[in-house]
Amino acid sequence: MAITFLMDGKEVTAEENKTLLDIARENGVDIPTICFHEATTANALCRICVVEVEGQRVLQPACIVKAGAGMKVQTRSEKVIRARRTILEMLDSTMDLSETPEIQNMMKDYNADPNRFPDAERRESDVKDDNPMYVRDYSKCLLCWRCVQVCAEDAQYTFAINFDGRGFETQIGTFFGKSIPETSCVLCGQCVAVCPTGALKPKREFLLEQGMSPQEISVLNTGRKQKSKVKGRDDFRPLTGLEER
Ligand code: SF4
Ligand code: FES
Repeated sequence: MAITFLMDGKEVTAEENKTLLDIARENGVDIPTICFHEATTANALCRICVVEVEGQRVLQPACIVKAGAGMKVQTRSEKVIRARRTILEMLDSTMDLSETPEIQNMMKDYNADPNRFPDAERRESDVKDDNPMYVRDYSKCLLCWRCVQVCAEDAQYTFAINFDGRGFETQIGTFFGKSIPETSCVLCGQCVAVCPTGALKPKREFLLEQGMSPQEISVLNTGRKQKSKVKGRDDFRPLTGLEER
């Protein structure tokens, strides 16, 4: 059944059961997203997509809220813009956004001040380089949950990674902090594909950035394959970073 409601003062008609984000996109209305990904279940974690709905006390995340007949929705009201700007400022104050050009562009669009919270505690983490396929740098992780979801019911059903810790200490991790080769991970790479921030990065890309040449990387790969053939997967030696040169 079709419903009609107002979005930014304009009447829109859409199929019932669609989210405000879907309908906005169908009608050319730009609502920014960060945690949302078409291939994963939306959980409304980042809140950058919030919109104002008349009669609702708090802003509503457009990626999960369904449109209803007669709704009056504002996607860029003063309140919405202030909320998005604050979310961006908080993100920027706590994590490394250097490899997220989309979020950096949002910072400009919303006039976000990168120095608004100078005393904020930053998420710092060493690069975890423990498997031949990808590295993990959780100082760049914004906890969008996409990697956890594709590793679980949204795609792979592998359940190698999940949330770990509580509150500010929350991070993505493996069960009991095991290294990736010790988990159920099958190195499918789907988590890397959906990561929006560079927190998960293909090993080859990481090594190139560290200054290794493609030839040096293939030598490391060859060594790993030979070793793996002889000793089997349990003993295989991860293709690690510069310390192996
Ligand atoms: S590692 Fe990447 S995909 Fe996973 S939660 Fe962090 S930012 Fe999202
Ligand atoms: S995109 Fe909707 S809450 Fe993150």
